Amino acid sequence: MAKYFDEPSRTFSEYLLVPGYSSVECLPGKVDLQTPAARFRRGQEPPLKMNIPFTSAIMQSVSDDKMAIALAKEGGISFVFASQSVESQSAMISRVKSYKAGFVKSDSNIRPDQTLADILKLKEQSGHSTVAVTDDGTADGRVLGIVTSRDYRVSRMSPDTKVEEFMTPLASLIYAEEGVSLSEANDMLWDHKLNALPIVDRKGKLTHFVFRKDYESHKANPLELLDKDKRYVVGAGINTRDYKERVPALVEAGADVLCIDSSEGFSEWQKLTLEWVRKQYGGSVKVGAGNVVDREGFRFLAEAGADFIKIGIGGGSICITREQKGIGRGQATAVMEVAQARNEYFEETGVYIPLCSDGGLVYDYHMTIALAMGADFLMLGRYFARFDESPGAKLNVGGNYVKEYWGEGSNRARNWQRYDMGGEAKLSFEEGVDSYVPYAGALKDNIALSLNKIRSTMCNCGALDISTLQKSAKITLVSATSIVEGGAHDVILKDSSGNVVR
Ligand code: IMP
Repeated sequence: MAKYFDEPSRTFSEYLLVPGYSSVECLPGKVDLQTPAARFRRGQEPPLKMNIPFTSAIMQSVSDDKMAIALAKEGGISFVFASQSVESQSAMISRVKSYKAGFVKSDSNIRPDQTLADILKLKEQSGHSTVAVTDDGTADGRVLGIVTSRDYRVSRMSPDTKVEEFMTPLASLIYAEEGVSLSEANDMLWDHKLNALPIVDRKGKLTHFVFRKDYESHKANPLELLDKDKRYVVGAGINTRDYKERVPALVEAGADVLCIDSSEGFSEWQKLTLEWVRKQYGGSVKVGAGNVVDREGFRFLAEAGADFIKIGIGGGSICITREQKGIGRGQATAVMEVAQARNEYFEETGVYIPLCSDGGLVYDYHMTIALAMGADFLMLGRYFARFDESPGAKLNVGGNYVKEYWGEGSNRARNWQRYDMGGEAKLSFEEGVDSYVPYAGALKDNIALSLNKIRSTMCNCGALDISTLQKSAKITLVSATSIVEGGAHDVILKDSSGNVVR
């Protein structure tokens, strides 16, 4: 006979946290959100930690190198999407690892024989007013000069004027040689009252710019997540098909952690992948696995050697797996059961396996509830897709700014490996949709707001760190009627725009 679970499967919106005692020491500024991201033995330090419990989803519309840099600056980890060629995914990882905080690759470049009209077009495309003039018009060509908006006056000059006629030539420029430190470069910016400092190598080629406007922002990233060589930490998705080629390339490119990207992880394919990685690299390459939604699935992946385990089937905002296949489980129930299995495993073996709650987080308070229920960190897709830094296009639809957000199981992504059950190499039906999400601005501002809410709620629960929250949180199921009571009710709202506050 089939197994029936005694309880219905539930989601985060059905629960609330009941406050615990908070002492005068419980201040949001004192909350430490550091969290483990790879398995460790009792009494030992986790080999990989994050400074905030956020990872961005392994999706084309969420995690590329730009997102990875932006999130590492705030203390989290992006898992660069795997549904692309090994070469392009490795190139994204290399770009994150070679990114030097404060040293920016020039994205507006031009040749000297181009014109003012070209400069104006470039400015509109990139939104930047500093343009490097190089011999071949590339970001690493030989520097001949720079153009800023101080160098031309559109109303007085013909659009055909050649760049070489009005650029500030190298001979009149202040620049620094490659090898200069960020603080030396910043001193030069201040001493010479510059907005941009070109960095030039021995052959006269442009390597980077250091901008005055970035000075403050660099100072303002106290939680940035760096490896031992002070490079940003980045993750990468892998699949259970081409791992023998993909993993070595990603490791070579410098990926700090990998994760098997699959809609359903309780499978021999994952075991084989994990075993292969262990055989090749021992414990030096960290790999997460998933997704599972019950204790059996957890146990299987724990014993197969996963470094962290991801929970969630069917709860993602773009996901239609439950409708298509009738598989899945309410995310809150899944997290609670797997967390219990993880704690038992820890008691039994002394090995702690971090858990990641993946998908279906809508309100910021869901994040705190997921952590309280036992997740060590979270994976979010929709949340990050809304920001400037996500790869999707920003569009105006019906008078509102939106960003594109499509599922890995949609026809658009065609990520058949994620849904692979060992059959033919194709996506036979869709398990995700192609959609829009409301545009929300800069990652940094949104993360700051979400973290403030988490820290403040943790203080209400008397917890100054995630581990204490997991041990001491009091969680209650709420009735359908009390859920209604939770929003504004029985009043006439002044803002009738219909905006949903999240
Ligand atoms: P979200 O944060 O609710 O948008 O969920 C993101 C998560 O949904 C991802 O991390 C994946 O686990 C999952 N996911 C991504 N693409 C698809 C899809 O096409 N179908 C089902 N689930 C998906």
